[in-house]
Amino acid sequence: MAVIPVDIAGRPYEVRVGAGLLAELVPHCRGRLRKRGVPIVTDANVHAAWGHVLDAALGESGHEPRWRILPPGEASKSWDQLAATVDWLLAEEVERGDHVLALGGGVIGDLTGFAAAIVKRGCRFVQLPTSLLAQVDSSVGGKTAINTPAGKNLVGAFHQPSLVLADLAVLDTLPERELRAGYAEVVKYGLIGDPDFFAWCDEHGAAMLAGDASLREYAVAHSVAAKARIVAEDEHETSGVRALLNLGHTFGHALEAETHFSDTLLHGEAVALGVVLAARYSARRGLMPRATAEHVARHIAAMGLRSEVSALRLDCDGADLTAHMLHDKKMDAGTLPFLLMRGIGETFLAKDVELGDVAAFLDEELRR
Ligand SMILES: NC(=O)c1ccc[n+]([C@@H]2O[C@H](COP(=O)([O-])OP(=O)(O)OC[C@H]3O[C@@H](n4cnc5c(N)ncnc54)[C@H](O)[C@@H]3O)[C@@H](O)[C@H]2O)c1
Ligand SMILES: [Zn+2]
Repeated sequence: MAVIPVDIAGRPYEVRVGAGLLAELVPHCRGRLRKRGVPIVTDANVHAAWGHVLDAALGESGHEPRWRILPPGEASKSWDQLAATVDWLLAEEVERGDHVLALGGGVIGDLTGFAAAIVKRGCRFVQLPTSLLAQVDSSVGGKTAINTPAGKNLVGAFHQPSLVLADLAVLDTLPERELRAGYAEVVKYGLIGDPDFFAWCDEHGAAMLAGDASLREYAVAHSVAAKARIVAEDEHETSGVRALLNLGHTFGHALEAETHFSDTLLHGEAVALGVVLAARYSARRGLMPRATAEHVARHIAAMGLRSEVSALRLDCDGADLTAHMLHDKKMDAGTLPFLLMRGIGETFLAKDVELGDVAAFLDEELRR
C-alpha cells in the first residue's frame, strides 16, 4: 500500500492506495465510524459490483451500512439529487462530527462531498473512489460540485475529505472505456510538470491499462502525489498553480459542449483530445517543436484514446468551438487564460491567446 499525505493547512489527510482496501475499510477508518449506522452514497453500478464488500466489512464489526443508491451518470450531479441526498443525511441524523462515505466515481464523490459540505454547515466525509479518474484526480483536493442548466460544476464548494481510500481491486469491474478515459488525467501529470513520468507512461502505460497490478499502484500513487503537491500549494486555485491541472480542459470542454456532454465523448476522452490540441497549438505558436506535439499525439493514440478531432466528424467549425470557451468558468474579466506547453513537463498559463487564432487553428484540426 502507498500512503500519500495531502498537507492542507489545518486539515491534512491521507490518500491510501492499494488492492483490497475496501475489505479493510473499518480498520482504515478507525475512529471515524462513531455510530452503528454508516451512511454510504453510491451509484447502482458500483453498488452492484462492490456493495457486498462494504456490507461484509461493516457487518463484521457490528456496523450497519445505510445505503443511498443513485442512478449512474452525470445527471445525478443535480440540484434534485443534492437536495434529496441532504434530506436523507438529515433523516439519518448525521452530525457534524460524523463521516459519510462516498463510494463511486467522480459523480458520486462530487455530489456527496458537496452534500457533506452543506449539511449542518459541514460534516466529514471519506472518499472511496472507484473509477481511475476519481482515484487519480477527483477524490483528492476537495473540489465538490453539481451541474446546473447553465453549465457543469458551476455550483459547489471546497470541502476536503478526511481520508481517501483508493482500492485498486475495484478497477477490475470498471468498463474499459472508462479506464482509458481516466488515463488521460494520469498522463496529464507528466505533461504538466514531470517529464520523467511522461517517459514512464510511454514505457508502461499500455501494460498498466492491461491490468498489471504493481504498475497500477505506481501510476495511481504517483498521480495522487502530484495532485497532492499542487493542492497543498494552492488549495483554492488562487495562485495559478492549481490551474495547471486544467491542461487540455479548455479545448476538451469545448468538445464536450459541442457533443452536448453525451456518450459521444467521455470527459477523459475529451481531455485526451484537448491535450493533443494544446500541444499542437503550442507548437503552432513556436513554443515547442512540432515533433514534441506529435509525440504527445502518438502516445495518446497508443493508449487507445482518440487523438484526432477530425475523426469525430463534428458538424461545426473552429469558431463554434471557441464560442463554447466563452462560457468557461475560467473566464476572467473578458480574457480566457490558456494552458500551453514549452515542452513535455513545461506547461504554463498564457494570458495573451486570441480566440480568433485558436479558431483558425481548430479549423485546420477539424479538417486534418
Ligand atoms: N472534483 C474534482 O476535482 C473533479 C476532477 C475531475 C472530474 N470531476 C468530476 O468527475 C465526474 C466524472 O467522474 P467519473 O469519470 O468517475 O464518472 P462516473 O462517476 O460517472 O463513473 C463513470 C461510470 O463508471 C461506473 N463505475 C465507476 N466505478 C466503477 C467500478 N469500479 N466498477 C464498475 N463501474 C464503475 C459508474 O457507475 C459510471 O457509470 C465529472 O462529473 C467531473 O466533473 C471532478
Ligand atoms: Zn478532468
